[in-house]
Amino acid sequence: MAKKKSILDLYKMKEKGEKATWVTAYDFPMASFAEQAGIDMILVGDSLGMVVLGYNGTEPVTMDDCVSHCQAVRRGAPNTYIIGDMPFGSYQTSDEDAVRNAVRLLKEADVDAIKLEGGRRVASRIKAISDAGITVFGHIGLTPQSSGQLGGFKAQGRTVDSARELIKDAIAVEEAGARALLLEAVPPEVTEFIWKKLSIPVYSIGAGLPCDGQLIICGDMLGMFQAFTPKFVKKYANIAEVVINAFKEYADDVRNGRFPEDQHVYHIKDSIEDFEKLFKEFE
Ligand code: KIV
Repeated sequence: MAKKKSILDLYKMKEKGEKATWVTAYDFPMASFAEQAGIDMILVGDSLGMVVLGYNGTEPVTMDDCVSHCQAVRRGAPNTYIIGDMPFGSYQTSDEDAVRNAVRLLKEADVDAIKLEGGRRVASRIKAISDAGITVFGHIGLTPQSSGQLGGFKAQGRTVDSARELIKDAIAVEEAGARALLLEAVPPEVTEFIWKKLSIPVYSIGAGLPCDGQLIICGDMLGMFQAFTPKFVKKYANIAEVVINAFKEYADDVRNGRFPEDQHVYHIKDSIEDFEKLFKEFE
């Protein structure tokens, strides 16, 4: 079994030009599959609100949701670097709330780092959490928690003006003490510039190749999330189809008396004659 990575290992990978692999997971089985596949990092994203809890957005997700899903993921992937997402409302109110909630993710769910969304406007939160000794991953570009303000789930940095704001945010995130940065839905040209400008690892979800590694949402890549598929997703499996077909086959077997079969039942240990005597006692 591979040794669990530390933030220093992620920096070494960057130095050597090794691309890091990063997926989201929200529960024990998915985390365990990711670890068995040798994935470098797992994000317990607040996308869990949409992918597994059935909300239309990430805003309803609570700290308690994040803590309990991070705990399940840690149980499933004890040897994988896990980043816990800070849900909407857990850091927007004050630096103190941000630190308290980040501490919860570490103490109660044993995550290795936390991630929060935003650039210059959350710089003081990043600094406060980092000063508390917690590893922070920044996240800019398409930030789902503020998709309302962005006018929807829209790519960012596509114009010079928008790219300028992103670059300022990236610099602010690094200066505030973040140890890594995630860029979401950003053109590769802008990603490459930010990657070369910063010294911390820069990862992409929908931000192209030129950076230190890729993140993908398990529900998207495995074909489990059916509401929509972002342009930047490559589908590696169609789990929904596999599961729906399995449920249909099972229902057909039950309705037609083909399940359970002899191999699926427990057999009596005494003779049938003895059992018949027993049943007579109750007639
Ligand atoms: O919650 C999440 O999965 C995320 C990704 C969209 C980056 O923050």
